[in-house]
Amino acid sequence: MTPVEAQKRIAELTELIDRYNHEYYMNDRSLVSDYEFDALLRELMDLERAYPDYALPTSPTRRVGGEVNKTFKQVEHRFPMLSLGNTYSIAEIEDFESRTRKLLDGTAFSYTCELKYDGVAIGLTYRHGELVQAVTRGNGTVGDDITANARTIPTIPLKLKGDYPDDFEVRGEVVYPFEAFEAMNRQREAEGDEPFANPRNAASGSLKLQDSAECARRKLLFCAYFVMLPETEASTVGDTPLSTHYGRLEAAKQWGFKVQPYIKECRNIEDIRFFIDFWDKERWELPYGTDGVVIKVNQTDLWDRLGMTAKSPRWAIAYKFKAEQVSTPLESVSYQVGRTGIVTPVANMQPVWLGGTTVRRATLNNADFMAKLDLHEGDSLLVEKGGEIIPKIVGVDLSQRKPDAQPIAYTTVCPECGTPLVRAEGEAGYYCPNQDGCLPQLLGHLEHFVSRKAMDIDSLGSERLRLLYDAGLVRNVADLYDLRREQLIGLGTDTAASIQEKGADNILRAVEQSKQVPFERVLFALGIRYVGEVGAKKLARYFGNIDALMQAPVMELAMVEDVGDVTAMAVYDYFADTAHRAVVDRLRAAGLQMQVVENRVSNRLEGMTIVVSGVFEHFSRDEIKASIEQHGGKAAGSISGKTTYLLAGAKMGPEKLKKAEKLGVPILTEEEYVKLIES
Ligand code: IVH
Repeated sequence: MTPVEAQKRIAELTELIDRYNHEYYMNDRSLVSDYEFDALLRELMDLERAYPDYALPTSPTRRVGGEVNKTFKQVEHRFPMLSLGNTYSIAEIEDFESRTRKLLDGTAFSYTCELKYDGVAIGLTYRHGELVQAVTRGNGTVGDDITANARTIPTIPLKLKGDYPDDFEVRGEVVYPFEAFEAMNRQREAEGDEPFANPRNAASGSLKLQDSAECARRKLLFCAYFVMLPETEASTVGDTPLSTHYGRLEAAKQWGFKVQPYIKECRNIEDIRFFIDFWDKERWELPYGTDGVVIKVNQTDLWDRLGMTAKSPRWAIAYKFKAEQVSTPLESVSYQVGRTGIVTPVANMQPVWLGGTTVRRATLNNADFMAKLDLHEGDSLLVEKGGEIIPKIVGVDLSQRKPDAQPIAYTTVCPECGTPLVRAEGEAGYYCPNQDGCLPQLLGHLEHFVSRKAMDIDSLGSERLRLLYDAGLVRNVADLYDLRREQLIGLGTDTAASIQEKGADNILRAVEQSKQVPFERVLFALGIRYVGEVGAKKLARYFGNIDALMQAPVMELAMVEDVGDVTAMAVYDYFADTAHRAVVDRLRAAGLQMQVVENRVSNRLEGMTIVVSGVFEHFSRDEIKASIEQHGGKAAGSISGKTTYLLAGAKMGPEKLKKAEKLGVPILTEEEYVKLIES
């Protein structure tokens, strides 16, 4: 392919993939199979890699993420991001309506009613039709620059279509749709991560992810609700007038934004009341959370006339939906054992209709929460459902309590395996300590072991692991390496997880491949309490191999960076258990990586000791330290007479600089470092 052909094909693919994306995310329509789509995307990625100069800044490949945000740049909003006055009272909405009418003194006008999304507000700046910046609301004046993450959200156009203003901002809400939110939380739990409390927190956490590729995996949605136009702008786009809020959102749709379809133009208070009543009931049918209705004056030229109060515009107001509450009798308390052994009490209640679904069960969170409620047999519980889908127990209806009702005590033994529960100091809940024999924990442990960030045996999901357990083939992680083809074929016939010949081969291949997974991930995969990805990496680097780690006294374990006393104790206890040592021995015999493999790239830094300080553009701190070691150097923490260089990033501490100057240690910039290792 000639460069000219490549450039042409890149442009073609960019446009084609953009169109497919648009149809898929905006119109719920697939024009090609996933397979074809992936093939096109891959072709584009390959071409862009071969001809980087022709890659368009708006290329859909940039949605895949991969840019790493060290810290988020703080950006001042061109126009402050205001909040809205809000109320739970219809009477106050009526006041707003009559006040507005009075202020506008006979001028003809209308309102728009739209849903108030329960997510995170962001502002998007477009110049010459291209997304140049995405900023969170922050404190309204200054927010975080989250452009790299915003680019990964499919409903945020990277390049606008049609007749758009040259330089302007679109604001809207990033939400986490319920279905994707629940799937993500299930996966987090399987991988031993803390689930998010609600979709709003999850959306906010996702936008602040350091790794935009991870943000790309979260299925976030952006909905535009506000177009900010410079005053000099044309007054129409095609046939759409830009002098109304409604018209501007219509125009935004033509430019390629997702705009909520539920927006209505309202003439009077009756229309507004109808809209509010309708959505108060129907909101439960929506695929994402809404916590109210926003009412805005539609004619934008009237906004200036109405002006502002101290913090919010007088031309808009938010009506907030009240949480729905019911009272229903408690039938029993049961206990669920999570994958990490945490025991959660659950209230089983007389079924009751609440917010569009029948509620039968709700969490009692933990022992402390139960104690605070002072639950008695037969109590009536007050259950609430707010903007989120999950019903919450908010109290006990004491007026219904029978005089002779007995208090309910928290269980003392595990409901799954009968082991007496223990409570870690300072924690609100109890857990079952029988890690290796308690079924949900064992399955959780297996799921964690095969998960992507651990051994990445992706052909084994939770259902298949259950099949292997039920067939008596797997009792611990080492058993996975003894599986034979003939044992697997035919398992789970008639279930979705059934294993046929091809499935068996895939499993065995993935198990085999996992033997190449580096030691630090093997260590993470073992699922030692409190040892996360980072801790595992630090332990692996410090000790170098599993034997040194297994023999380490607690004191030495606690000396490792990022490993506190509690984790050190947990690691020590883990390896003190002979059953765990036996598993490790079997994993080693199976061929898993049990030591850090030195991946020496060059000897250019041989004999050098380099102190790293500050933040870097192309490396994280850990990456730059690893890079030093890969080139034969030593990464040290503090400057001394032996230091060869101080490798200085942005925001370096002044103390280090002073010391380096005093000792005459030369300073290296990030670019100089890169030149040094590539020389
Ligand atoms: S309009 C000046 N419309 O609610 C008008 N806001 O307190 C700016 N929100 O932080 C806001 N859905 O995050 C508007 N359809 C909607 C909205 C909406 C959610 C949020 C927004 C803002 C807060 C207002």
